[in-house]
Amino acid sequence: MDETLSYIYRFEKGAEPNARPLLLLHGTGGDENDLIPLGRMIAPTAPLLSPRGKVLENGMPRFFRRLAEGVFDEEDVRRRVQELADFVEAARVRYGIVAPIALGYSNGANIAAAVLLMRPQVLAGAILLRAMAPFSQAPPVDLAGKPILIVSGQRDPIIPPERAAQLATQLQCNGAIVEHRVLPTGHELSQADVTFARAWLHAHEHPAMQ
Ligand code: MLT
Repeated sequence: MDETLSYIYRFEKGAEPNARPLLLLHGTGGDENDLIPLGRMIAPTAPLLSPRGKVLENGMPRFFRRLAEGVFDEEDVRRRVQELADFVEAARVRYGIVAPIALGYSNGANIAAAVLLMRPQVLAGAILLRAMAPFSQAPPVDLAGKPILIVSGQRDPIIPPERAAQLATQLQCNGAIVEHRVLPTGHELSQADVTFARAWLHAHEHPAMQ
């Protein structure tokens, strides 16, 4: 077995195997099945790659350790970024797919943001739903032209929009093209998330995103 494919995961080829894939990254307590329906709503024919986070918090899968809600073990984040980025690269070879766009929710959006800040070449772009800055100090990185959509909930008690705005600034300072939307909702997802994500993906999907 390829060691770098050591995650439990699902891969759905989709009706257009050469289309830009989505890398689905679930929230705390989710698994590899969680975001498949959302991925299909946003990209109906694309390949979907969906790993399950390896860190367990009271039995709930996550993509990295946290010390408290909103307080991250940044050393663990850095280690898990390498692990996830290696997995994506190995999956690209195994399935013959181009660099994916991450679609992450909550903890999954936060690990996607960390991958962008440490291994940007692994992702063609990202849709970050209810995300915050994963590092107190963002490392300098080349994100020139990388398209990123951040969608926050105005009444989100777990990740207030200001924390997403901090992430947006970190990404923009490194050259990314960031769109940050704030919806009149909480931490949970809404139909408006799907509508914005679909429209954004449609507008940004082009070959230059290799
Ligand atoms: C995180 O831990 O990544 C965030 O606090 C969101 C969460 O998963 O609850």
